[in-house]
Amino acid sequence: MVRLPCPLLLPLLLLAPPVLQLSAATPEPCELDDEDVRCVCNFTDPEPDWSSAFQCMSALEVEVHGGGRSLQQFERFADTNPKEYIDLVKALRLRRLTVGAAQIPAPLLAAVLRGLGSSRLRHLTLVDLEVNGTMPVPPLEDLGPALLTLSLHNVSWATGDAWLAKLQQWLKPGLRELNIAQAHSLAFRCADLHTFSSLRTLDLSDNPALGERGLTAALCPNKFPTLQELTLRNAGMETPSGVCAALAAAGVKPQRLDLSHNSLRASTQGAPACTWPSALSSLNLSFAGLEQVPQGLPAELSVLDLSCNRLRRMPRPEELPRVTTLTLDGNPFQEPDASKYQEVPNSGVVPASACSTLAMGMSGTVALLRGAGALA
Ligand SMILES: *[C@@H]1O[C@H](CO)[C@@H](O)[C@H](O)[C@H]1NC(C)=O
Ligand SMILES: *[C@@H]1O[C@H](CO)[C@@H](O)[C@H](O)[C@H]1NC(C)=O
Ligand SMILES: *[C@@H]1O[C@H](CO)[C@@H](O)[C@H](O)[C@H]1NC(C)=O
Ligand SMILES: *[C@@H]1O[C@H](CO)[C@@H](O)[C@H](O)[C@H]1NC(C)=O
Repeated sequence: MVRLPCPLLLPLLLLAPPVLQLSAATPEPCELDDEDVRCVCNFTDPEPDWSSAFQCMSALEVEVHGGGRSLQQFERFADTNPKEYIDLVKALRLRRLTVGAAQIPAPLLAAVLRGLGSSRLRHLTLVDLEVNGTMPVPPLEDLGPALLTLSLHNVSWATGDAWLAKLQQWLKPGLRELNIAQAHSLAFRCADLHTFSSLRTLDLSDNPALGERGLTAALCPNKFPTLQELTLRNAGMETPSGVCAALAAAGVKPQRLDLSHNSLRASTQGAPACTWPSALSSLNLSFAGLEQVPQGLPAELSVLDLSCNRLRRMPRPEELPRVTTLTLDGNPFQEPDASKYQEVPNSGVVPASACSTLAMGMSGTVALLRGAGALA
């Protein structure tokens, strides 16, 4: 019997049970590349050799696929005291960790975060995870890693709307970028949420059911005071002015706003005019199915991307904000062969292939000049 020394070292080591059974027939689940940089583990096998994860000790980037299994059996490791392993954890080179395709008890997830508290982990990605049970409250002074980036794709939480606050309390402050795609709930309980005091980028792309109302619920007022970039690609947004209203309600003042890949309407009847954040300098409205330039855009922008829409004529200067760089590539008015722009059923946007073909044939400078021309 070999008692593995450090069950909390990495989630995968945490998964390493005391008994090592090496079966020659099954391939090693983990593979470390020749440069000792990236280590990928695939524990899809019904009886995987968990100890293979030790190869990943020297890696900078580790990716673990759980094959959809439940990690319930490892919940007992959640009680391990991370202080016992602190020197080992400090010696890890691990910077990036991706954990995917598993069902994980919340106490175990918390234990993994706590175990990695003194590590150099800065970028954590969770994909296709189901977190069941309740996240415990962290002991004071014993938090998880000081992450810069946290990315969650299709992660479901038994705690429902409270999940972000529960997860946040395990992280040291300093998070710069938060990406949440295919979320099961973005209607956060704002009162429980701490201020994200260093967050610069919030990416809520690929939440097609979010919509402007959902955005208003997700953007908890005054919790994102340092936000510079808000990305809402394919997030069910309907009009730029609706988004403007959500930003104003939350007091969020990004410099860059990406509304690409939403089916946008040019105007909202009877909607009150909204004041855009004064810092907003870049607005992306590409792949938005627009037939006209939307009304109520910010008065002045450095960058406006209107590429890959359905504009049938060159916008008139008075329809556009004052823009330094305007991109209009991939609109029908630029291309005599408009048959390339057939609508895709139910999506209302031009096919990406047609648009990228066009865009490739045109340099950025040409687009820029063309933009300037439109304003002249
Ligand atoms: C993991 O392994 C299984 C079977 O060996 C394979 O079907 C699957 O694609 C692999 N997954 C990843 C993410 O490599
Ligand atoms: C989301 O994750 C669950 C596992 O938690 C998985 O069963 C499901 O297929 C994933 N959905 C998508 C769209 O990938
Ligand atoms: C989590 O799921 C596992 C496996 O489905 C189950 O055994 C366990 O009781 C669940 N835990 C909670 C707290 O719901
Ligand atoms: C706007 O969004 C599209 C699609 O998401 C992307 O390809 C393009 O680079 C973005 N434009 C700018 C100026 O960032």
